[in-house]
Amino acid sequence: MANLLRIAVLVSGRGSLLQALISACTSHRLAAQIVGVFSDNPQAAAIAIAAEQGIPVYALQAQNFNGRADFDQTLFAHVDAANPELIVCAGFMRKLSTGIVSARTQRLINIHPALLPKHRGLDTHQRVLSAGDREHGASVHFVTPALDAGPVIAQTCIPVQSSDSIETLAARLLPYEHRLLVATIELFTKHILRHDRKNVFIDDIVQKSPLRF
Ligand code: GRF
Repeated sequence: MANLLRIAVLVSGRGSLLQALISACTSHRLAAQIVGVFSDNPQAAAIAIAAEQGIPVYALQAQNFNGRADFDQTLFAHVDAANPELIVCAGFMRKLSTGIVSARTQRLINIHPALLPKHRGLDTHQRVLSAGDREHGASVHFVTPALDAGPVIAQTCIPVQSSDSIETLAARLLPYEHRLLVATIELFTKHILRHDRKNVFIDDIVQKSPLRF
């Protein structure tokens, strides 16, 4: 059997992105295996999804720790123990501390529900509507210490409809996010991806702009 890319997934909530990754792995669409699911929320529905699939899960509650770095170090001791080749933040809602990110930045990615560099941070659907943007989307980027500011690997784009609400926009974008995340991770199974904090390189070829899926 071809080597499967070992993936650790970080989650905080519903787990629809995790479910998309599980489905892609079990259907062999993705030559990868999820070696662990990690969360800052023991009650996250994503944890139950992983456990049901027999995937090792580990969840911590931030309030049991004194500070961000302490929490992160404990969580990532367990992430590292799973020996992942790629760490995927999939609906993970915590900002990771600089030390944790810097040590893993070449194999740490995040999916953000906006067309970065527009709308870093939270409440992106609301901000798209408030700004009157005509298009919206999602971005998969390498994680660097600055929030949602790492080099963007790939994006997906949808039109904003005049009738859109936050809910309709989020719901219409979600399946595109699922496809974007699977397609981007597929790149990692077939190519060497790296960055220099500014540019993404695929098999040492600099990418002039994010791939579009
Ligand atoms: C996605 O829109 C993702 O971009 C954001 O959380 C949403 C889905 O999370 N961070 P989940 O995978 O359903 O928990």
